Amino acid sequence: MKLDKRTDYCGNITADYLNQNVILFGWVQRVRNLGNLIFIDLRDRAGIVQVVATQDANADLLSAAGALGSEDVVEIKGLVVKRASVNPDMKTGEVEINVSQITVLNKAKALPFEVKDDLQATEQTRWKYRYLDLRRKKLQQALWLRSKILTATHAYFDQAGFINVETPILGKSTPEGARDYLVPSREHPGSFYALPQSPQLFKQLLMGAGFDKYYQVARCFRDEDLRGDRQPEFTQIDMETSFIDEQGVQDYTEALLQKVMHDTKGIDLKLPLPRITWDDAMNDYGSDKPDMRFDMKIKNLNDVFKDSKFKVFAGAIAAGGFVKAIAIPGGAKAYSRKQIEAKQDYIKRFHAKGLAWMKFEDGKFSGPIAHFISETEAAALKTTYELKGGELLLFVADQWKVCCDSLGYLRRSCALEQNMVSKDDYHFEWVVDWPLFEYDEGAKRWIAAHHPFTMPDDKGIELLETEPHKAHARSYDIVLNGYEIGGGSIRIHKKDIQLKMFKALGFTKEKAYAQFGFLLDALDLGFPPHAGLAIGLDRFAMILAGQDNIRDVTAFPKNSNASEPMMKSPSPVAPKQLAELAITTTDDAE
Ligand code: AMO
Ligand code: AMP
Repeated sequence: MKLDKRTDYCGNITADYLNQNVILFGWVQRVRNLGNLIFIDLRDRAGIVQVVATQDANADLLSAAGALGSEDVVEIKGLVVKRASVNPDMKTGEVEINVSQITVLNKAKALPFEVKDDLQATEQTRWKYRYLDLRRKKLQQALWLRSKILTATHAYFDQAGFINVETPILGKSTPEGARDYLVPSREHPGSFYALPQSPQLFKQLLMGAGFDKYYQVARCFRDEDLRGDRQPEFTQIDMETSFIDEQGVQDYTEALLQKVMHDTKGIDLKLPLPRITWDDAMNDYGSDKPDMRFDMKIKNLNDVFKDSKFKVFAGAIAAGGFVKAIAIPGGAKAYSRKQIEAKQDYIKRFHAKGLAWMKFEDGKFSGPIAHFISETEAAALKTTYELKGGELLLFVADQWKVCCDSLGYLRRSCALEQNMVSKDDYHFEWVVDWPLFEYDEGAKRWIAAHHPFTMPDDKGIELLETEPHKAHARSYDIVLNGYEIGGGSIRIHKKDIQLKMFKALGFTKEKAYAQFGFLLDALDLGFPPHAGLAIGLDRFAMILAGQDNIRDVTAFPKNSNASEPMMKSPSPVAPKQLAELAITTTDDAE
């Protein structure tokens, strides 16, 4: 059934429509006025078609065409004819519309910027006129891609027998995780709802309720410092299942990813996806979300350098640390001393004390530390890295974590700089066998590496009461091209284990009941074993769209200081609204 008056979208008018009269709606991309011949590029969501008013047209029509300006919204009637000069770069390039009627539906004023992909406007202007920015092909395509991911997701879960349940947006603040966004309650002055950081506890309770297989496309809110791959408000493809173990959740996830890759990119994703343990990921790639599109592994050189003349290396090893390094093919020519020094400065943020380097060219090592390197050490480096010539070796001698973080960063950033990876290459992998806890340097305490509801492995359950920080978790992350796109775990479904977990996190029994009494009670009332996972839709869409920032796959994102310059949120509110909520503010409030 055709609901539209239009014949088709502008971008779909190909030779199939030759000699047909068509009705089109769209925006004027540009007008080329040659006097008695006027060309109009007409754009809509599907693309651009050329419209032409020729000398055969009557004077009114020619003057109407000549009066059109960029971004005017028009209705066009005309005949599809063959183009004199075919444009092979355009889907509609073989035809043009010989216009017979132009109706201006709305005239546009002079625009703050021209709607085109290589636009010159400042960030500020683009933010302010986000709807104009969104008219651009790049953003149109990104949002279509995002929409297609969602369509595939809903279709997948529906056929796999999952129920789609919405969970509350007005929830309860809990002390774990990121900072909450709070919403004041009018009915309960001084009390606040919290926006959900994820539907975690609700989806677990749905398993307690017997729904067995749940999914939701869920909005999540976290008041965190923003980065390219983080927004304060984002979307998860969230799932939970009962009576299913790691393998089961991973199988469902893989089948979902396979469908999404097929439906959006036409890619046949080979299953099962590779798995790597957290230990191997950190040691070999220096990251818990390794980019495995390229190799360039980090090697541990403690055996090579334990007696080294270079005191920085021998000293680090003697102090219980490590000497680790990467070899960058082609890096000897690609990087100058100054560029390497800039990298040394950068890795200070990982607490690295320095960055030692050597180049390997014409069978010889060169660089500031080369004269310290013995022949045996040089030979060992050649075999360890299978050096062929032209490599740059970057060394970090430090504590394990500093070596991993610094070299993990250098490995990926150098590979991207050297174009060793292609954006069209999609490498998914599971990172498994995680530690249960991680040390939060900021808060100076141990926190759950995934979340406090994650089941320790069998040995970990024993360790909970003795050496909890050595425990491992039954959790798994799904990683794509160096981004964590999702994560999940087997959940704790037994009250005694959950209480031990809270205790290991520093909760007294009273505090645990005050915060999570509803869950502890529920676990005692017939709770099935369960497990799940959530995929960050925004990050996934960003990678599939070939972008580096999730802003570019989000219709109305927040900027880096969590504000939205178009509608200007957040904003002050009327004193009356604050009074209703029993809230007073002070200018210097923190
Ligand atoms: P987690 O906190 O790992 O797990 O989040 C799951 C995925 O959500 C995405 N993500 C984000 N995307 C954009 N902006 C953010 N600020 C942001 N924070 C997270 C990431 C991440 O992998 N409830 C658990 C999942 C589970 O155990 O089932 C959870 O939220 O891609
Ligand atoms: P120094 O002896 O401190 O002058 O350092 C000599 C070289 O070793 C410099 O290039 C430093 O950047 C580098 N360096 C210093 N400390 C470390 C370290 N912990 N790991 C790797 N390289 C280092």
